[in-house]
Amino acid sequence: MASSQIYTFSLFLLFLPSLTLSQKPSQINALVLPITKHALNLQYVTSISQRTPLVLIDLVVDLGSPFLWVSCDPSTYNSSSYRPTQCNSTQCSSYNPKPICSTNNTCILFSENAFTSKVSAGNLSEDVLSLQATDGLNPVSMVTLPNFLFSCAPDFLSQGLAKGAKGIAGLGWSPIGVPTQLARAFKLSRKFAICLPPSTNSSGVIFLGDGPYVLLPGIDISKILIYTPLVVNPRISASRTSHSEPLHSGEYHIGVKSIRVNGKKVPLNSSLLKIDKRGFGGTKISTVNPYTTLETSIYKSVTSMIIRETMAANVSRVAAVAPFNVCFSTRNNNVALTRPAMPVIDLMLQDDLVFWRIFETNSMVPMRDDIVCLGFLDGGMKPRTSIVIGAYQLEDNFLQFDLIRSRLGFTSSLLLRQTSCASFNFTSGV
Ligand SMILES: *[C@@H]1O[C@H](CO)[C@@H](O)[C@H](O)[C@H]1NC(C)=O
Ligand SMILES: *[C@@H]1O[C@H](CO)[C@@H](O)[C@H](O)[C@H]1NC(C)=O
Ligand SMILES: *[C@@H]1O[C@H](CO)[C@@H](O)[C@H](O)[C@H]1NC(C)=O
Ligand SMILES: *[C@@H]1O[C@H](CO)[C@@H](O)[C@H](O)[C@H]1NC(C)=O
Ligand SMILES: *[C@@H]1O[C@H](CO)[C@@H](O)[C@H](O)[C@H]1NC(C)=O
Ligand SMILES: *[C@@H]1O[C@H](CO)[C@@H](O)[C@H](O)[C@H]1NC(C)=O
Ligand SMILES: *[C@@H]1O[C@H](CO)[C@@H](O)[C@H](O)[C@H]1NC(C)=O
Ligand SMILES: *[C@@H]1O[C@H](CO)[C@@H](O)[C@H](O)[C@H]1NC(C)=O
Repeated sequence: MASSQIYTFSLFLLFLPSLTLSQKPSQINALVLPITKHALNLQYVTSISQRTPLVLIDLVVDLGSPFLWVSCDPSTYNSSSYRPTQCNSTQCSSYNPKPICSTNNTCILFSENAFTSKVSAGNLSEDVLSLQATDGLNPVSMVTLPNFLFSCAPDFLSQGLAKGAKGIAGLGWSPIGVPTQLARAFKLSRKFAICLPPSTNSSGVIFLGDGPYVLLPGIDISKILIYTPLVVNPRISASRTSHSEPLHSGEYHIGVKSIRVNGKKVPLNSSLLKIDKRGFGGTKISTVNPYTTLETSIYKSVTSMIIRETMAANVSRVAAVAPFNVCFSTRNNNVALTRPAMPVIDLMLQDDLVFWRIFETNSMVPMRDDIVCLGFLDGGMKPRTSIVIGAYQLEDNFLQFDLIRSRLGFTSSLLLRQTSCASFNFTSGV
């Protein structure tokens, strides 16, 4: 009894100095944003305060877009702190590919709506941006950046975005991408994390900066991440010879080496998994594609292995339900004591010990009448990217993009850890 009290007391003394040291009010570790799923068009939307006076704007999150753009239509954009940047400014010249210059010496960038593939010119501009800082457990305070860089787009570019959304928050790699700009402004680590919610009525979370990333009931996800090398924009070097190619400059790729279904290796043409000289092939992570798409030969191989495995477990295949091709009945399984025997799919990474396991919650999409469909789509014969890991497969998986060490930290399904992407405590802690 007495010795345990002494132990507790000395532990307290030991931790006290480091606690006070680390609580410098000027130093923040990370910023935090909510992210919600919109059911109609399967997009994920965040809200950020911008302008003077501050207005909360909804933006669709795109992991691969290189910067933030927003509709600057004068009827809706009214801010006393708005400034277009000039062509000769460092803000303008730091961006690659080089922006063009308007007759009025304003810096013009091309913004893309990746959901509709529409592109438009717009001013590279600066305005006030305000976000919540976090200690990793709760939001703790608001912080404000007076000169956040973004591109102004005409109203039509927002067509095809979730209702109410006025632009795109680009989390892609670029000097003016949201993560890099905020890291520079607030002296954060160049890392960010994204956790997409599966349900439309609860918020997931985006962290900009380093962990801890704590989800209820008190699990620091930064401690349980598995890492794989992240290849940022391999296409720039791959397609350098062709200046007419769009650069897709923000995208994040990982090195999938093979795919296993229930531990069995799926026969694949492995050259499709590498990025070739023309910039074709490889695997990227996308919040634009609602479901994972696979190049046709990979799709056929993976689905036939999954069909074989489910048949072997007595799950009956039923008619396709669009947009999916491979659907099963779960009716008979529901009466069984065990869960339906849906196969696990492993994306094998840098070696046999590192893989991203996709469980039923991320592989099968529930439809009406006890039917589930495999949430993978055929990406066609010659897609630019052979495997595009889509948003449904990312839901309730925690992903950290570490831009310093070029690596992706991931968890597989958080449900196995008794937590979820909707488990960040957004109640202010101070
Ligand atoms: C813009 O905001 C200012 C100040 O808030 C207001 O006086 C002005 O009427 C607004 N203009 C438009 C076009 O809404
Ligand atoms: C850019 O050019 C304008 C005139 O066109 C000039 O007033 C300004 O000082 C220049 N800025 C820089 C950073 O060179
Ligand atoms: C350029 O500036 C002039 C005067 O400042 C203005 O009337 C015109 O609308 C501007 N044009 C563009 C394309 O920004
Ligand atoms: C770009 O800035 C110029 C000068 O401020 C302005 O005239 C023009 O309307 C802006 N264009 C867009 C698309 O916002
Ligand atoms: C929305 O929330 C309610 C109450 O928390 C829950 O019963 C319902 O299933 C949720 N809807 C969806 C689509 O998850
Ligand atoms: C494998 O894919 C590459 C790249 O598309 C192609 O050139 C090659 O012919 C394919 N090999 C086989 C055996 O299908
Ligand atoms: C599948 O069903 C057959 C016939 O009912 C049975 O013999 C077999 O054990 C079942 N297999 C599994 C994996 O449940
Ligand atoms: C969320 O955080 C607030 C503020 O720290 C705290 O009062 C509350 O108990 C937390 N909620 C849960 C479910 O832990």
